[in-house]
Amino acid sequence: MAKIGIFYASAGGNTTQIAKALQEAFEVEDEACVLMEEDFDSAQQFEDFEVLFLGSSTWGQGDVHFSWVDALLEIGSKNLSFEGKTVAFFGTGDSQKHGEHFCSALGKLYEVFAKRGANVVGFTDEGDYTYEASLARIDGKFCGLAIDNMNESNKSEERIEKWIAQLKEALA
Ligand SMILES: Cc1cc2nc3c(=O)[nH]c(=O)nc-3n(C[C@H](O)[C@H](O)[C@H](O)COP(=O)(O)O)c2cc1C
Repeated sequence: MAKIGIFYASAGGNTTQIAKALQEAFEVEDEACVLMEEDFDSAQQFEDFEVLFLGSSTWGQGDVHFSWVDALLEIGSKNLSFEGKTVAFFGTGDSQKHGEHFCSALGKLYEVFAKRGANVVGFTDEGDYTYEASLARIDGKFCGLAIDNMNESNKSEERIEKWIAQLKEALA
């Protein structure tokens, strides 16, 4: 299987839960699991992998977690290309208290990586969610896995498992 790297940001552990499930399911080594706040130094790290699982919880007004900001700026300033890489996005949010920006961080990541040539897999059906608006909604679907542990934690495990099965098929 292609070499997989997991890059993620999480303040309270919700997004970490998804990252850990991915790590286990795809047997990703610890060194290839990059917690942005602690382990990320430079965008050079993306180069080591053919497949990138990229995660962030959503903050502020639909923003990525702060620890993603420098990476996204570096990608832009160095005009990096992700052509030839396969990418999947995941994240957590709150569809009720922050329903006007639900999981928008996924859309912010999509904007950067898809526009720079990455092949995006792992789109999901948004029909099972109730929210007002989201930048993660691309052509009528979420551009990755959206998890809402604040209001629908009972659905999280099943959603994560289903998405992992979908990714396994896409990467086969
Ligand atoms: C100050 C604040 C702002 C937030 N802004 C958003 C938002 O814009 N959109 C959203 O979907 N969730 C928002 N959330 C909810 C978090 O993304 C959610 O609690 C998430 O599960 C946190 O995941 P983490 O533990 O991985 O950091 C916000 C939460 C707080 C406390």
